[in-house]
Amino acid sequence: MTVARRATSDEPTEEQLKALVAELTPQERVRVLTGETTWTLFPLPAVGLRTLTLSDGPIGVRGTSRAPTTSAQLPAPSALAATWDEGLAEELGTLVAAEARAKNADVVLAPVVNLQRTPLAGRHFECFSEDPLLSGRMAVAYVSAVQREGVGACIKHFVANDSETDRTVYRSRLSARVLREVYLAPFERVVEDAGVWMLMAAYNGLDDGVEEAPATEHRRLLRELLKDEWDFDGVVVSDWFATKSTVAAARNGLDLVMPGPRGPWGEALTAAVDSGEVPQEDVDDKVRRILRLASRVGALTDPAQASGERPGEAASGHQAATRALLRTAAARATVVLRNEGGLLPLSPGTSRIALIGANALDPFVQGGGSAHVTPPHLSLPLDALGEAFPSAAITAHRGGRTLRHAPFMEPGVLDGGQVTVTLLDAEGRQLETRALPAPWDGSVRGLPADAASVRVEAGVRLDEPGEHVLEVAPVGAHRTEIDGALLSESTHHVAEEALLDSSASHPRGHVRSFAVRESGLELKVSATAQVVDAGSFGRFARVELRHLPPGPGTDAEIAEAVDAAREAEVAVVVVGTNPETESEGWDRSDLELPGRQYELVRRVAEANPRTVVVVNAGAPVLSPWLDDVPATLWWWLPGQEAGGSLADVLTGACEPSGRLPWTLPAAATDVPVPDAVPREGVIDYVDGLDVGHRGWDRLGRTPAREFGYGLGYADWSYGEPAAGTWREGAPLEVTVPVENTGTRPSREVVQVYLEAPEGGPERPLRWLAGFTVVEAAAGEEAGAAVELVPRAFQVWDEETGSWVAPPGEYRVLVARSSRDVRGETTVHVPG
Ligand code: BGC
Repeated sequence: MTVARRATSDEPTEEQLKALVAELTPQERVRVLTGETTWTLFPLPAVGLRTLTLSDGPIGVRGTSRAPTTSAQLPAPSALAATWDEGLAEELGTLVAAEARAKNADVVLAPVVNLQRTPLAGRHFECFSEDPLLSGRMAVAYVSAVQREGVGACIKHFVANDSETDRTVYRSRLSARVLREVYLAPFERVVEDAGVWMLMAAYNGLDDGVEEAPATEHRRLLRELLKDEWDFDGVVVSDWFATKSTVAAARNGLDLVMPGPRGPWGEALTAAVDSGEVPQEDVDDKVRRILRLASRVGALTDPAQASGERPGEAASGHQAATRALLRTAAARATVVLRNEGGLLPLSPGTSRIALIGANALDPFVQGGGSAHVTPPHLSLPLDALGEAFPSAAITAHRGGRTLRHAPFMEPGVLDGGQVTVTLLDAEGRQLETRALPAPWDGSVRGLPADAASVRVEAGVRLDEPGEHVLEVAPVGAHRTEIDGALLSESTHHVAEEALLDSSASHPRGHVRSFAVRESGLELKVSATAQVVDAGSFGRFARVELRHLPPGPGTDAEIAEAVDAAREAEVAVVVVGTNPETESEGWDRSDLELPGRQYELVRRVAEANPRTVVVVNAGAPVLSPWLDDVPATLWWWLPGQEAGGSLADVLTGACEPSGRLPWTLPAAATDVPVPDAVPREGVIDYVDGLDVGHRGWDRLGRTPAREFGYGLGYADWSYGEPAAGTWREGAPLEVTVPVENTGTRPSREVVQVYLEAPEGGPERPLRWLAGFTVVEAAAGEEAGAAVELVPRAFQVWDEETGSWVAPPGEYRVLVARSSRDVRGETTVHVPG
């Protein structure tokens, strides 16, 4: 799909933009190049530029408001990619644009088009896929739809930003060819085919063999490739706090430093222009880009209208049409990994269902970090299944906790249902006292400039006999006590930059257990913790108070779930990751499900042969039960309509037609890139061109389920494929008749892979070259036409610095997955 590269014909010309810039003083020009706040740019009333507002992100539009505000919460991007459906990506892009307008946001900081190079990467769920072609096409559809509505998209993070460990300092080292063919490929598609208006330079550095520099100041990347070669005419914004220099960043292609108002530009940039270190023309070019973006989003107006409030439309997350779209998206994204004996969909007359699992009761619907949004409501599986199976008796069982941390303290255990927070200055003098009601998330915000630390005090009353766990989790330098006894202490002072480093900003819990007998127990918890000055994010302190009351314990909870499964007609076990597992800010250290979920699945399946396992995770987890349990669904991080989507899948109201956008490993030791950890500050992309499934092919390893896999609820047969004739620079069409041989209407993702001719340059053994989605009723035939773009045949020739299609006979494989080939033909590329 290709859309107009330039969005509007009434966009100001370069000459008009130059004339506008000429009206600005040198100081005004520099001022607009650093944010005014965390999310906004300085207005320039002199030329009619109103405040431009940016908002995260990939799961929905959070907006900038400090007040509690809700946003339509989408399924995670990897779920969207699992639909392989560009039409659906467009629908969600249109929704995101409407949400942005409702929140007065001009640019949405999404989508992420980095690749899932390793399943352990913390932001895996925020990316579309491990495959460059699938990622690029989903992103083009999404970005085109957002921008069609006059809202900017910002693709991120440019480039090779595929790990979170030491994320602001490591360098990615990869060859120009690997960069071009793999990691730049989705960016190139979105710049070329969707004409994206903004791009975010990443935290990491890049060593492409010629230049080694932070991504925010990499000249070859930003100026030579992006701006000169690709002709990108939008704005290059830094990732938040990523800009490390004044002169290098300004000269080498960065346009906008975020957040502000502090930062390495401002007066230092003015001085660098005055001294000639940074040419005035470089600054002017940046300002023109910002003005061009402003004109595209309607922020460049008559100077008289350049200030004042803009009316926002109502956010839509609660509206019926939005809910229906999000529910369908999450249901269609669901991947059927196994369905023996037609267990799914469940019969409408199912009389007794045991719904089991911590994630069934409390589904994990979005990963952590900057993409986080608060949905207007959450559809829960138990409620939705109740509606979907009105005549069934449904019982719900947690089957054991899976979180390591205790929950926040409930009001019932706290004296007065609250904690007392005293603000202290550097000398320990009291400035102010606040009473904060429980449950409290541990944050103290809006702190005055003279507050140096906070003291948190709480009286805790534990009445219930049994074992209680208290946990106190502060950020930064602190001292915590329970009943006067030291619990933890640290002098490590956390500064603004540390916010980006998960090990510093995510509180670590310090734990003590108490055995309570009949008479109860009263305790005093007190903690003093430093104030973190997080620049434009504000000054804050954090001390989480957590409490785990006595419970039946995991043994008993599992036993109860197993008993319920035995009595039920069907057991539905929802296993998965949780907020302690998948997040921005850290990488995972293993692929295991947390808690005792493997044991839970095994024992439930032993108790009930009609067991359906539902995996609630964005990134791969080891799934050793896969071939022992009759049905397994991959349900992703499904967003606000979680419950409804699961009900639709289980009843078959919506076909789960997802196909894996990544490879599901059978064993951790098989994973081609087994960690995301820099070595001596460097991540060496030794896997080269063999990203994702290509790596599995290269190493000859068999995953649990391969890339592109997904059964749906029907069967499909394939006829003979035919390929058009290759012509330089032109797309080539592969057609194949397919037939739905199942008993219900269905969707099929027809995938086309290529294999290289003999004797050419080293290539992946097999790579995805195109795909399309077809629909057909039961017994119906459909014709699939898959377009292969020229890049699908080309390699980057490092010697000539150009794209070439190596000549010869290419194998064209028409397939249901990367390893389930249903037909084959060839294409000849002449020499
Ligand atoms: C993330 C970006 C995000 C930005 C603003 C950064 O930490 O890497 O993806 O858009 O914060 O929240």
